Amino acid sequence: MSTTTGALKPREVPEIDARSRRLVTIWLATMLAAFVVMVILGITMRLNQGAAIKLMPNTFYALMTMHGLGMAGGLFTAGVVLIWYLTALRFQMNHTVMWVCYVLVLIGVVGVLAATLVGHFAAGWYALYPLPFVNAAWPSWTIGTTIVSLMILGVAWLVMQMDIMRVLAAGYGLKRMFGLEYYKGEPAEPLPPAVMITAVCATAGILGTVVGAATLIIYLFKWVTPATQFDPLLLKNTMFMFGHTIVNVAMYCGLGVMYQLMPAYTKRPWKVNRLLVISWNATLVFILFAYFHHLYMDFAQPKAIQILGQIASYGSALPATAVTIFGVGSQLYRSGIKWTLTPFAFMMSVVGWGIGGAAAVIDATIAVNRVFHNTLWVPAHFHTYFLVGFVLILFGFLHHHLNSRAERLAGTGFVTMLVGGYGFVLMFYLGGLSSVPRRYADYSAIPLPSVSQPGTHYALWGALFASLFLLGALVFFLSNGIGRRSPGEAAVAGAGARG
Ligand code: HEM
Repeated sequence: MSTTTGALKPREVPEIDARSRRLVTIWLATMLAAFVVMVILGITMRLNQGAAIKLMPNTFYALMTMHGLGMAGGLFTAGVVLIWYLTALRFQMNHTVMWVCYVLVLIGVVGVLAATLVGHFAAGWYALYPLPFVNAAWPSWTIGTTIVSLMILGVAWLVMQMDIMRVLAAGYGLKRMFGLEYYKGEPAEPLPPAVMITAVCATAGILGTVVGAATLIIYLFKWVTPATQFDPLLLKNTMFMFGHTIVNVAMYCGLGVMYQLMPAYTKRPWKVNRLLVISWNATLVFILFAYFHHLYMDFAQPKAIQILGQIASYGSALPATAVTIFGVGSQLYRSGIKWTLTPFAFMMSVVGWGIGGAAAVIDATIAVNRVFHNTLWVPAHFHTYFLVGFVLILFGFLHHHLNSRAERLAGTGFVTMLVGGYGFVLMFYLGGLSSVPRRYADYSAIPLPSVSQPGTHYALWGALFASLFLLGALVFFLSNGIGRRSPGEAAVAGAGARG
């Protein structure tokens, strides 16, 4: 019996209806198509850094800008769709809102594609102020188009996340959806962990998006009236608050799906307890300030904030990682699980998240950052927890969601992705350890052979491994197309997932 305090009652048995299922499929198919295009841009960049092809520098940086924006924005969007799915399992959602946002996202993506690939806007994915406006090698229309396109994307993200929060608040009440009842003891009606994680993600995502919107309004102002001046350090803070927060939130959205679906495969409940509530709420607080670690080299930033940045970086990574790794361990230990692709993908994503998170914490340590700052170690860590972390959850989810039964083909594609993915990120780490700087189109200009030679060498290997990853991903997509469970089989296989 549901004794929920909200105005909406969650379904007794979480279940996705056919319309919501189709909506999620279309959203994710679109995001994954964009993902493949962005991977191809990434391989092209790595081939250029590996001296296998020759791009003009402005072309390289336009590709890099598009790749960064497309990957970070696309995967964050996919993350929001995942938490929408978690909410749609329990409540009737408003589909019109999602379709309007879908159109907005497409408009935003087309705008960014035009500005970068046609107009060669190349200020990097977070286009730090005043870079887009000073001695720009790209035409003015590309600046305005990028700003307006990002604003359109921001509106879509904000609306989707606020709609999720509206439904959760109506269904569970504001206090309950964050699990705050658990501070007093075990509540009469347990809260599903996926609901709490959804609330944490949407809150952080909304705050990040609002700060991003404010930043973009200032950028728009500068574009329209170039004589105005703003504080670069303030805008660096707000831009990173936006960018760093949304990419972290994407990962946490994926974890929400794992908390929801893993029990279907282990046949064990994954319950909320006080420790889980404390960890996830602490993550919500820390994640908003963890971005300070990107500003360690900004000496005008007050020292106290730098120290807070180190504490928040550890605080945002450690509690959620610890409880999740422990939770996955206790889900799996002697569960007699039948290893199909979805639970395997979930487990491997936690491994990738753990490795990428550890590398991030190393880099967020002030003493280490003095050496690693702006080396390839930085892309190494975030590519790890995205490519062999979040993306694996997304693939595992897709396999489950599409009721795929081509386990062998999916597994072959998946293992190929793992080998390619880990090989690719390893080349970034090795580059970082050899002091190879990030964001260099071509390492041959570096007058130190001890840096330029390994940089070029690792880049070429990185391109080969990334191509292997892409091949694996394509095989995996093929597996989803050729083997599906019948509705009856899917109902049996997915029974536990709904709990
Ligand atoms: C196999 C897949 C991928 C390949 C081949 C690839 C390749 C690259 C390369 C070569 C760079 C430039 C590194 C540098 O020298 O600084 C880069 C940067 C970047 N990548 Fe990827 N990447 C891949 C996947 C991803 C994923 C999954 C994400 C998700 C967030 C991502 C986000 C970014 C971002 C944000 C940047 C920084 C762009 C900037 O500095 O403006 N990439 N990637």
